[in-house]
Amino acid sequence: MNALKRLYRGTLSTLPPELAKTIKQSADWIRSPANRWTRRYYTPAARQPREDLLLLIARFCHINRPIEGYYFEFGCHEANTMRAAWKHFRHLFNWHFVAFDSFEGLPEIKDIDKQPIWQAGKLKTSNEDFVRLCRSAGMPANRLSTVKGFYDQSLNEQTQARFLGSKAAVVYIDCDLYASTVPILKFIVPFLQRGTVIVFDDWACFHNDPNRGERLAWREFTEAHPELAFSKLYEQGELAAFVSL
Ligand SMILES: C[S@@+](CC[C@H](N)C(=O)[O-])C[C@H]1O[C@@H](n2cnc3c(N)ncnc32)[C@H](O)[C@@H]1O
Repeated sequence: MNALKRLYRGTLSTLPPELAKTIKQSADWIRSPANRWTRRYYTPAARQPREDLLLLIARFCHINRPIEGYYFEFGCHEANTMRAAWKHFRHLFNWHFVAFDSFEGLPEIKDIDKQPIWQAGKLKTSNEDFVRLCRSAGMPANRLSTVKGFYDQSLNEQTQARFLGSKAAVVYIDCDLYASTVPILKFIVPFLQRGTVIVFDDWACFHNDPNRGERLAWREFTEAHPELAFSKLYEQGELAAFVSL
């Protein structure tokens, strides 16, 4: 062990100082109790409520069958929710899965969304890596489409026309920001049907302030559309879900 440590330190001392510092910081993190706690408790505790909600939705859609069409996901990054959605929805439903993302990470952050955690370009996964992750989870090519682009550009009438013909069974919104949620809600209107479940993954962002983030976008959207009716299906911690009536 001491020989290994000597080799490690010796190798570090031959590297450019900035690189050596980065490697040392990563190695320190990997060995730290905080990293063990994160992997054992913190990350699973963040994932489990999402899986539970997807199962709740599977049951809701099965009981209220048929609810046919798409699983739309807005904000796809490392395909964690997309893979979980495939895992829990593929057995009972014949939905087509559509991933909408810039695949370039977050956009420029507008004033209303400013918070230290959000930075342009953060949370980037390329289209190719995203598709590879989905394939490795067993998603066949003919069940997954991706739409690349920032929403203010990509969620246009052409994209609507590409998918119209079917409605949405589930709309999963995981894009963190108010400015990103507004064009999504405008885009999904013609895809709503009785029973469409709309999920917000970041309901408690921005200190759970109802005047920011996805919560503000949803309130403005429902106020602007009195002809549409929704009922709340779920609200817990970071997650909320509504059903289109
Ligand atoms: C928190 S991550 C999503 C995590 C993902 N559901 C998962 O399971 O790995 C947020 C994603 O939203 C995307 N995003 C946010 N705002 C966007 C916008 N205006 N246009 C396109 N993509 C956006 C980012 O590129 C990023 O992939």
